[in-house]
Amino acid sequence: VDAYARSGAGDVTAVLVTGASGLIGRSLLPLFGDHDQVWALSRRERPPADRVRWIVGDLTAHRLPAELPSGVETVIHLAQSEHYRSFPEQAFDIFEINVASTARLIDWARRAGVTRFVYASSGGVESRGGYYLASKKCAELLVENYRSLLHVIVLRPFFVYGEGQRPSMLIPWLVDAVQNGRPIRLEGRDGMRLNPIHVSDAAAAIHGASRLESSEGFDVAGPEILTLRQVADTIGRHLDRAPSFVHSHESPTELVGDITTMTRLVGAPRRTFDSGIADLCRGVRTADRDGVGR
Ligand SMILES: NC(=O)c1ccc[n+]([C@@H]2O[C@H](COP(=O)([O-])OP(=O)(O)OC[C@H]3O[C@@H](n4cnc5c(N)ncnc54)[C@H](OP(=O)(O)O)[C@@H]3O)[C@@H](O)[C@H]2O)c1
Repeated sequence: VDAYARSGAGDVTAVLVTGASGLIGRSLLPLFGDHDQVWALSRRERPPADRVRWIVGDLTAHRLPAELPSGVETVIHLAQSEHYRSFPEQAFDIFEINVASTARLIDWARRAGVTRFVYASSGGVESRGGYYLASKKCAELLVENYRSLLHVIVLRPFFVYGEGQRPSMLIPWLVDAVQNGRPIRLEGRDGMRLNPIHVSDAAAAIHGASRLESSEGFDVAGPEILTLRQVADTIGRHLDRAPSFVHSHESPTELVGDITTMTRLVGAPRRTFDSGIADLCRGVRTADRDGVGR
């Protein structure tokens, strides 16, 4: 199924996107059409862009920005704390953005007559621990209470990757490790199993979710289940470097999203890992050739 066709492109929509400047948000904004009204929230002033009106606001503040627009049909809440790994030092930054702002935003949405709230949770919420995932789970539990009032769509992305992603995330970290000959630790022989999704497919799924007429919840993940060894070997092929591995005796973790519901509701992910990672690796090779970052 073509995700774009399924998403009802052509309908006019009025949407408010938080986290619009992030990895997924940057790929999502261009998917809205000329007639859509798109407001995007950021902590920073941003130059006006085609079809996008930027609102400045900090979601750690205890009030939502005063100038949230009227007439919004859909809120897409993608913002997350950039300190999400810094527990306990940044616990309250994580809490304010991931939990409290979600609570404020969906309550604003209800009062403002918004019909749909799309929330980006995380793929790890059911299987892993930690403060960040606990904050995502809390927010899921809170927003689900609003299902009788508006369409609530909870998405759980698994290992989104794409250009311009922060280097500490798994896939860019692996690219850097392969490029610089750093060993990659594998649980057992082949390591964790995962199905990473290219950011263009994740954005298409979220765009599709912004047109759904019912409350839903689904994983957002890629088309192939790979071991970490396969991921690293694919990266190595595109960088022309053989990855090096060290092994632990743990049994391999499995962090695999089930794409059945995503495929039915908004379309299947289209980019293979080989094709998606080729773009990222091309960028790395160009930067290396040009001496960027040295
Ligand atoms: N990428 C993945 O692999 C992945 C996996 C699982 C779940 N997710 C979830 O998917 C969503 C989008 O992920 P992403 O990778 O696109 O995120 P990202 O690149 O880390 O971007 C985070 C966004 O949050 C905004 N933000 C941070 N602090 C803020 C604050 N105090 N007030 C307002 N906005 C703030 C930032 O906007 P400004 O800097 O412009 O203010 C930025 O656009 C997140 O909720 C994330 O938890 C992503």
